[in-house]
Amino acid sequence: MSRLPSIDVTVYPYECDAYGHLNEAAYLTLFERARWEALARGPGADIFARHKLWPAVRKATIEFRAPAFPGDILTVDLHLEKLGRTSVELRQSAKRAADGVLLAEVHLVFVMVDGKGNPVAMPEEVAAVFGGRVSTMPGEMVRYDVGRVTLAADVRGDGPALLLVHGFPLDRSLWAHQVATLAGWRRIAPDLRGLGATVAPDDDYSIAAYADDVIGLLDRLRISRAVVAGLSMGGYVAFEMVRRYRDRVAGLILCDTRADADGVEGRASRDAMIAVAQEQGVSVVAERLLPRVLGRTTQLTQPHLVEQVREMMTRAPVSGVVGALRAMKERPDSTPLLPSIDVPTLVVVGQEDEMTPPAIAKAMTDAIPSAAMTVIAGAGHLSPLEAPTAVSRVLAEFLEHVRDTVN
Ligand code: MLT
Repeated sequence: MSRLPSIDVTVYPYECDAYGHLNEAAYLTLFERARWEALARGPGADIFARHKLWPAVRKATIEFRAPAFPGDILTVDLHLEKLGRTSVELRQSAKRAADGVLLAEVHLVFVMVDGKGNPVAMPEEVAAVFGGRVSTMPGEMVRYDVGRVTLAADVRGDGPALLLVHGFPLDRSLWAHQVATLAGWRRIAPDLRGLGATVAPDDDYSIAAYADDVIGLLDRLRISRAVVAGLSMGGYVAFEMVRRYRDRVAGLILCDTRADADGVEGRASRDAMIAVAQEQGVSVVAERLLPRVLGRTTQLTQPHLVEQVREMMTRAPVSGVVGALRAMKERPDSTPLLPSIDVPTLVVVGQEDEMTPPAIAKAMTDAIPSAAMTVIAGAGHLSPLEAPTAVSRVLAEFLEHVRDTVN
């Protein structure tokens, strides 16, 4: 089964032929209507336009089983038959909603073509819609020695650079969907020191050290400027880059983050969390954080994602977790920096983010000249993971808008 929803379509009298039922031409139209409706409810009917390709039909074969008449409601499902590099074979079935009787099936072969009609490789986001898999770890991991640490990173695609910095206590797989889908950009998602596949030193953790590491990575990749996307702690790193490496930052995407430093209470709760990590282990830290980082909707509707984030947090080594907590506790206040930010900036926040709620995102947006803000419905603090398609779409639009500035 594909990831597209079932669609109920009503058979209208004007669609039926002289015998009063749907003929094959009408069935083709009805199946097509259901496909576009499913795309509109799922990843967006503009998914092909976003990737600058078009699914050209090469073959369509209808099998009639029983007639459909005006007023019948048909439930149309889409099944993946075969996924190739540039092509996809699909089967759509239409069942009468009233009794579940299979009325017709169509077998379709599509080839993805560019504007000139030439076949093109199917982007992972498109393949995922049809039921292909987007891996949770984007693969193509490389390791770069950047001084005191060797950073693991996913590096994919060509074009202007987009650096994606994860939050705490997470890793680069937070950005898996964006790494897989933001075509036309060179996507670079590192694991910060002490997290993911980047080896953890015992000490020397600070937001400044994280920023130095990712600048070292850009140097190794010979990238002079990048749009920097940072989620939560990754946002603190992005602010540090603006503070100390301003000419390397071509644009900012501030995702579920905040500019101010920890207050007295915040610092005390960092110390308490450090004690928990050291005395009870990272799995206890994960259990405390999970209900706060994931939105209500995700907790209710995406149990597999709750599990994925639990695993991601639990595989972090104690030294990396303690180091990050100390780094965040000591981070500087970036509020005074906000009015001086003069690169294109997008603020993204999950509607259900309890850690850095939309009100905080709004205040941050207001303080940055010409920043725009987008609220992601049904997502919490980890919006790129909880609502990957929506976040990737918002990022793609922003990136397209700033492409000329960045180049
Ligand atoms: C994060 O997601 O990176 C953390 O929530 C940031 C923080 O605790 O300040």
